[in-house]
Amino acid sequence: MKNKIAKPFLKWAGGKTQLIGAIKSKFPFQQGDSFIYIEPFVGSGAVLFWVLNNYPNLKKAVINDSNTDLINTYKVIYNSVEKIIPLLRRWEKRYYDLSSSEEKKKEYYYFKRELFNKRISDTIIQAALFIFLNRTCFNGLYRVNKRNLFNVPVGSYKKPLICDAENLRAVSRILKKVTILNGDFERTINYGENKTCFYLDPPYKPLSATSSFTAYSKENFDDNDQIRLKKFCDNLVMLKFKWILSNSDVKAKNQENNFFDRLYKSYQVERVLAKRSINSNASKRGLLKELLITN
Ligand SMILES: C[S@@+](CC[C@H](N)C(=O)[O-])C[C@H]1O[C@@H](n2cnc3c(N)ncnc32)[C@H](O)[C@@H]1O
Repeated sequence: MKNKIAKPFLKWAGGKTQLIGAIKSKFPFQQGDSFIYIEPFVGSGAVLFWVLNNYPNLKKAVINDSNTDLINTYKVIYNSVEKIIPLLRRWEKRYYDLSSSEEKKKEYYYFKRELFNKRISDTIIQAALFIFLNRTCFNGLYRVNKRNLFNVPVGSYKKPLICDAENLRAVSRILKKVTILNGDFERTINYGENKTCFYLDPPYKPLSATSSFTAYSKENFDDNDQIRLKKFCDNLVMLKFKWILSNSDVKAKNQENNFFDRLYKSYQVERVLAKRSINSNASKRGLLKELLITN
């Protein structure tokens, strides 16, 4: 049987599948090249999986995210995929069995959400809960409050795919090339060597004060972090690494807002069209301009 191609196993706000064409056109290495790929804000890893599937001579990849529950899920898939699959399969069956009763389904979802938020289960169960909630919650959002409690309500999907066993196995296999880190983006700098490309996809700067629809972690990523990230990019240049960074185009919303154009004035700033699929407000889904910045 032919091995299945690994793809993201989560829905994630800001997922980058839509931008892959544009990223490919800026990518500093060719298909046969041997290089290191580092993704400091990995989320669901749309670009990571694209790189892993398309650059067969990749030397290694390093991924990082500050979200501990997300990174635990990557590690469990890497180490114990055959233990997580039966759990997800069982919960999926149970969820489908309850699909005729909205009330029962809801009850089951909130029971799992409470268990996840207690964070007392072993790492395998926590990872399975993470995937279960991601698949069954409203719009696949990940949002926590200041106490790091996941607070997204139940979604309306009748039979969401909760256990994609073949993809989880493919992800587990392909992660063997990947070093998995959990912390602030800055520490990934130590993993670069000769011929390294960083893809940086931080939490986007909100387009307006009210448009910040998601909080991926209990700490916010504010303008000071955006500036800290620009300094990080300068340090990457000094070390002769290549980087590609995406962010929201705040200028498209407000012509006076030159935050990124000014911050990245010594680099190439390009505007590309991207389709945003996760927005809690349906009328705000659609085509948006985003920034792709490169050195
Ligand atoms: C826009 S999302 C990345 C989306 C990803 N490219 C994808 O395709 O799913 C930003 C990610 O940055 C993480 N994050 C937030 N602050 C961080 C920090 N200081 N260091 C590292 N990761 C951080 C969030 O947990 C979130 O997963």
